[in-house]
Amino acid sequence: MNNSNLIFDRSFVDGKWIAIGASKFDIVNPANGQKIKSVNDGGVAISEKAIGVAFEAFQGWKKTTAKFRATLLEKWHNLILDNTEGLAEIMTLECGKPLKESKGEVSYGAAFVKWFAEEGKRTYGDVIPPHTENRRLVVIKQAVGVVGAITPWNFPLAMITRKVAPALAAGCTVVLRPAEETPLTALAIAHLASIAGFPPGVFNVIIGKDASAMGKVLCESEKVKKISFTGSTRVGHLLMSQSASTLKKLSLELGGNAPFIVFEDANIDMAVEGTIVSKFRNSGQTCVCVNRVIVHEKIYEKFSQKLKKAISKLKVGNGMEEEVNIGPLINKDALKKVNDFVEDAILKGGEVLLGGKRIGECFFEPTLISNANLEMNFSKEEIFGPIIPLYKFSNDEEAIKMANNTVYGLASYFFSENVTRCWRVAEALEYGMVGINEGLISTELAPFGGIKFSGQGREGSKYGMDDYLDIKYMCFGNII
Ligand code: SIN
Repeated sequence: MNNSNLIFDRSFVDGKWIAIGASKFDIVNPANGQKIKSVNDGGVAISEKAIGVAFEAFQGWKKTTAKFRATLLEKWHNLILDNTEGLAEIMTLECGKPLKESKGEVSYGAAFVKWFAEEGKRTYGDVIPPHTENRRLVVIKQAVGVVGAITPWNFPLAMITRKVAPALAAGCTVVLRPAEETPLTALAIAHLASIAGFPPGVFNVIIGKDASAMGKVLCESEKVKKISFTGSTRVGHLLMSQSASTLKKLSLELGGNAPFIVFEDANIDMAVEGTIVSKFRNSGQTCVCVNRVIVHEKIYEKFSQKLKKAISKLKVGNGMEEEVNIGPLINKDALKKVNDFVEDAILKGGEVLLGGKRIGECFFEPTLISNANLEMNFSKEEIFGPIIPLYKFSNDEEAIKMANNTVYGLASYFFSENVTRCWRVAEALEYGMVGINEGLISTELAPFGGIKFSGQGREGSKYGMDDYLDIKYMCFGNII
């Protein structure tokens, strides 16, 4: 184990490790149900304290230069990478993803810190040609203030850096509430941020079991000016309504129901590979995982047989073991939900080509279901598990209609070798992101985010700074 110097059991507020009261809760390894660590349950009290601290810290932090903030972010980035092994182990222990995926997440997460260290220095304003001779019109961008970041368990590191790095680069201070399943990774990177030299109170991590009570405190506080949330659409709705009284800025990265269309002119081997990398990342527990594979009738048989063969090579098990491709699902509820999807599909005419069953208490077989139809529950809901339903179509219009037939609009994918079709379909898909002949589209360089019930705002890329900045227009008059 390389991680003992990175494990903490209480909130990190004002540059100190703080426990409030004696109440604790256990962090459990989803691969075997064993306790990893008990952590202090700071709840509402620590949330209120952290908001006050972040508010005070903002008064000084906002005055620092972008260049100074970039030097600290650079140091944080390097420290995260230097601790790849330890951080990856913590992540695999608390969220179950295979170790090689956890290592990949460390570099993915660190890349956001590096990117925003640079991007913060390019927070340019504008000089606008005036409407009268004696005026000068100028636009500057300023940090919004204290940011409440609420992050999920499926990417315990990267979803944090994707929010916290642009916030800090912009000059905001942060109160982060990581998922109660995976606080250890969050605390470890807070420790590295403090070594990097961020002043006390600039980046605070609050730990507690009661997500809804802590989220409510962040949303209703007048001192918090922005909420950035990644998680379910249900909770996104709730946070939005709780934020209404203080008219907060909101970034919401919510659920998805990603279609993956395979046209008759697709390179089938590439499409199979694209399906596998997109679907089975983190055992199917990502918002951008393929949810529905929609295949042209002419190649349906060939594609499904090749896909079946590729899936049968995947190894399920404890993510700490070498060679494992698919780890556990996060908890028993997740396992039941996935099992219910399969039972529902069978009742409605689905044919299980592969898998379909639980393995013990923690794992689910990678599953391929043929003859999927729109009545099946997974046609409407996010699966968040290792199931691929196969749908059939006969023309482009039908495929696009099926793909858009959902309230969600996060990621979508399709495979075709025809450039005209590629443009036409990409423009017709009602999604924030489209993968064309590609199943893995996430990078710090590109804007990640959705439309419709998948949320608002963008993370990563040059657009990822905007959500942490207010625009100020200054009119200089009487210049004679
Ligand atoms: C998510 O599932 O929320 C994020 C996935 C990604 O960043 O690729």
